[in-house]
Amino acid sequence: MSHQSQRVGATESLLFVDGFAGPGSYLGGEDGSPILAIKSAIEHAVPLPIPISFLFIEEDRERCEILGGAIQKYDHDIRNSARIKPPRIEHGDCESVVNSLLDEWNEAGQQVGPALFFLDQFGYSDVSMDLVTRIMSCPRCEVFSYLNWDHMHRFLTDQSKWASLNRTFGGEEWRPSLELELKERASFILHAYRTALMTKARSRYVWSFTMADESDSPLYWLFFCTNSLRGTRRDEEGHVQG
Ligand SMILES: C[S@@+](CC[C@H](N)C(=O)[O-])C[C@H]1O[C@@H](n2cnc3c(N)ncnc32)[C@H](O)[C@@H]1O
Repeated sequence: MSHQSQRVGATESLLFVDGFAGPGSYLGGEDGSPILAIKSAIEHAVPLPIPISFLFIEEDRERCEILGGAIQKYDHDIRNSARIKPPRIEHGDCESVVNSLLDEWNEAGQQVGPALFFLDQFGYSDVSMDLVTRIMSCPRCEVFSYLNWDHMHRFLTDQSKWASLNRTFGGEEWRPSLELELKERASFILHAYRTALMTKARSRYVWSFTMADESDSPLYWLFFCTNSLRGTRRDEEGHVQG
């Protein structure tokens, strides 16, 4: 499917982009992020002021097909829900697809967003700081991204990986970590990446979450970037505050 044939997002809906969508369902029967997002929108206890458009990007063709089948199972619910528009699947590389989507909106003189870009990469090198910067330059766009410290720290001293680290950070901010003990490296990298999200990608607010193993060593981090304080407010029941 091509996003040129059908405009996604636009101001009458909120756009949710899952940039590394995966197959939607796993062999063990667990739902993947696209299905969790669709179900959450349909079942959400509070009415949504505008419907949600979904764009799922996946670079593996077979996973795209499995995802299509997983979404198909919810076809009836989707058609009967005023909360969501029919989801779209794009086969391709996340960064290229998002860049051409933003180009298309810019060329049409259309305001981008409101939109949330969920960037759930496998490791640490598929989401560039340039991509986050471009998304965050749109005032009504937010990013929720993933960085795998467990993978990154294994490759930090491998010079063949340094170019991709530069791409991730938008520069060499990660490099002083090479001089540190392993224990200190994680907090240095977390701080350097957060700082880059604020100073390079110009995200006004960055919220980070650490997922750790049983011995409290960090495994990966999640980062929520927003330009609006409203994006960080929730009440005790998890409802976004107006
Ligand atoms: C960690 S998995 C995502 C899992 C999914 N978000 C979920 O919760 O079920 C990463 C997915 O991104 C896909 N992928 C890897 N590189 C990609 C890229 N550059 N652009 C788009 N998809 C990519 C992989 O094929 C894989 O299915």
